[in-house]
Amino acid sequence: MSTSTFGFHVAIIMDGNGRWAKARGRPRRFGHAAGARAVRRVVEAAPAYGITTLTLYAFSSDNWRRPRSEVDHLMRLFTRHLRSERDRLVAHGVRLSIIGRRDRISDLLRQGIEDVERHTAEGTSLHLRIALDYSARQALLEAALSLAATTKTNDIGDPRAGFEAALSRAMHADAAPDVDLLIRTGGEQRLSDFLLWESAYAELLFMNVMWPDFGNEHLASAVQAFASRERRFGRVSPPPTEAKGRLRTARAIP
Ligand code: FPP
Repeated sequence: MSTSTFGFHVAIIMDGNGRWAKARGRPRRFGHAAGARAVRRVVEAAPAYGITTLTLYAFSSDNWRRPRSEVDHLMRLFTRHLRSERDRLVAHGVRLSIIGRRDRISDLLRQGIEDVERHTAEGTSLHLRIALDYSARQALLEAALSLAATTKTNDIGDPRAGFEAALSRAMHADAAPDVDLLIRTGGEQRLSDFLLWESAYAELLFMNVMWPDFGNEHLASAVQAFASRERRFGRVSPPPTEAKGRLRTARAIP
């Protein structure tokens, strides 16, 4: 299985909560609650598959366009979930980071995030990243703006190569490697503004299972499908094993 020496990074667009609930004649929030239980299952199962970084798309910046009642419900669910999962995450050695904007969420949720991030900071079995009020385009824009504000042209050498490396560092501020495998559940086949920079060479897997039904067996089959793919990173044949560690910025390799 070809992953970078920085670990095995799986990212998931958790889609299908609403349809799962509708199929059962229940309100959408019923699907989100079941989705939260699926999150717990996958987090607990991930290390056994060699996954070192797991990024879950919980709320996109475009999700603010949903009905107010659903948005409020999701925000309360995130707040409760963080509080109730904190000690379990610590016990499992999981380090939790939240990626995305923090200036539009409630103080209570922001404090909850800071509390869990602080308590789990020493976790080494899995880096769990939850994307909340997240937009990949926004993240790129922010990284570019902060570089423009802080970097002089002669700090980065050759403008093109230097800027790409500097931007890559800015995008990987929390030291997560590029995405190896990106899964979307729910049957749709799009990226929805998720990790666009980090997924440049990700293997994509679109699964028909609705997120609340996602369990160990789906993760197993996703990892198996990934293992059977040949990753060439633009080459004719897969790169030699010793070069894999540098594939995080594969395009920089001549
Ligand atoms: C997409 O399904 C799901 C979301 C926008 C919310 C994701 C939230 C969870 C999985 C719940 C808890 C998460 C955490 C991190 C505690 P959808 O509502 O768009 O489903 P649909 O496409 O069937 O309508």
